[in-house]
Amino acid sequence: DWTMEDYCKTAIQQVREKVGSGKVLLALSGGVDSSVVAALLAEAVGNQLTCVFVDHGLMRLNEGDEVEQAFSKWDINFVRVDAEQRFLGKLAGISDPESKRKIIGEEFIRVFEEEAKKIGKVDFLAQGTIYPDVIESGAGDAAVIKSHHNVGGLPDYVDFQEIIEPLRMLFKDEVRQLGRELGLAEYLVSRQPFPGPGLAIRIIGDITKEKADILRQADFIFRDEIAKAGEDKKLNQYFAVLTNTRSVGVMGDGRTYDYTLALRAVTTSDFMTADWARIPYEVLDKISVRIVNEVQGINRICYDITSKPPATIEWE
Ligand code: XMP
Repeated sequence: DWTMEDYCKTAIQQVREKVGSGKVLLALSGGVDSSVVAALLAEAVGNQLTCVFVDHGLMRLNEGDEVEQAFSKWDINFVRVDAEQRFLGKLAGISDPESKRKIIGEEFIRVFEEEAKKIGKVDFLAQGTIYPDVIESGAGDAAVIKSHHNVGGLPDYVDFQEIIEPLRMLFKDEVRQLGRELGLAEYLVSRQPFPGPGLAIRIIGDITKEKADILRQADFIFRDEIAKAGEDKKLNQYFAVLTNTRSVGVMGDGRTYDYTLALRAVTTSDFMTADWARIPYEVLDKISVRIVNEVQGINRICYDITSKPPATIEWE
């Protein structure tokens, strides 16, 4: 019989013993797993930890600030890399979904490698591997590093001795519980999944800064209204997609020719299958009115009523 409080104390102690006076490096994505690892290491070894947060410019509204803010209470080295121009430059003119993923994955490794070199000698590379990842390889930025690492031994970009994976024995809900025990901000602990390539795979067609800004604003309003309506606890994932379609509309005396936005919301237990969520019409109406009024460049909103299968959760 154990409690998460006990587990937390033991985990902190184990990390301290293992790390000693060594230096630890972590790629922090802001997702639940890497955030909980960061909090655990911060409690255990403080400023022996360096977290590298790569902002590829395709994060959600205010995400970088929120992540930075959540870790400001710990005395750690928090490196935030603003790589928006770099990533958008590489992605310019690219429409194919898998090409977008590949470009972002490769560029992520490159940026992380550059930051790791600046830090110099590192003793441990920490990863947010959780139990389900151990059984079958997971997704996300962590997986990019993981798979990189697993191919032919240790990565050459950072001179370290060992990997530490303090969440290896935990299921997702236990990871969240541990995060709460560590005093990690609730919005990070209870966060919905967000793909490593971020908004890149939610902007159909080629990606521009303008499109990313439009989508960020619309997605923020969607999430804001869902939370205000108390629907957030009922949904497992919900987000906006900027389709590559423009259509005619009227606004005031004028004709518009702007983007169509799609809203996606699902309930699921394992993300392998998913049901489209029956969000009340009144909530959808409020969201639609607000987005069209507040976001320039969008004049039409559609709600995705397909389940998985046959559709996937993301559009790309
Ligand atoms: P699909 O669209 O395949 O998504 O039904 C299932 C879950 O996986 C997430 N997803 C990704 N996560 N990198 C990630 O880290 C990706 O390239 C990626 N593609 C999909 C998706 O958000 C959903 O939770």
